[in-house]
Amino acid sequence: MRKPTALLALGGLAGLALAGVAGQAQDVSGGGPASVAISDEGQQVYQDICQACHLADAQGGGGAGAAIPALAGNAKLQDAAFTMSIIVKGNGGMPWFHDMLTPAQIAAVTNHLRNHFNQFPGTVSEADVVAVIAASGVSSTECSTC
Ligand code: HEC
Repeated sequence: MRKPTALLALGGLAGLALAGVAGQAQDVSGGGPASVAISDEGQQVYQDICQACHLADAQGGGGAGAAIPALAGNAKLQDAAFTMSIIVKGNGGMPWFHDMLTPAQIAAVTNHLRNHFNQFPGTVSEADVVAVIAASGVSSTECSTC
């Protein structure tokens, strides 16, 4: 019984190493074409930032974190404009990301939420996010005064 366990552990390590390499490769290719609406980038942003609060399965926080809403099966996200807006501007305990993520990254994570964790049709583009940022009166990551 010991041998299979050791083999499994080894396989797990190899998988981790591979995942590390893949993650780095994705970081380097950061500014890819904006036309890739449903990209790995959305998943990457979600895993790097959002899942710390909303959890990996997007079920939100129970217990002490009960104030964090689920993003999976969340009917409010059918409204793409609302989804972009809350990521851009934040609300209550939800931080804003207009100055941390690029419009392309906000578009990618919006699509990830709406298409991966929900089955809402349609995607948003980088230009859509730029319009939301402009309408919100907040500055984007390309802030000329910073
Ligand atoms: C520090 C914890 C935290 C992080 C990090 C975080 N959120 Fe949130 N998020 C919240 C909280 C708390 C709310 C509820 C805010 C409110 O009162 O409306 C929320 C609400 C939302 C909502 C609206 C849901 C609804 O039903 O009203 C969306 C969409 C959302 N977050 C997306 C994201 C995305 C995308 C990211 C990553 C880029 C992210 N969040 C990162 C804490 C967080």
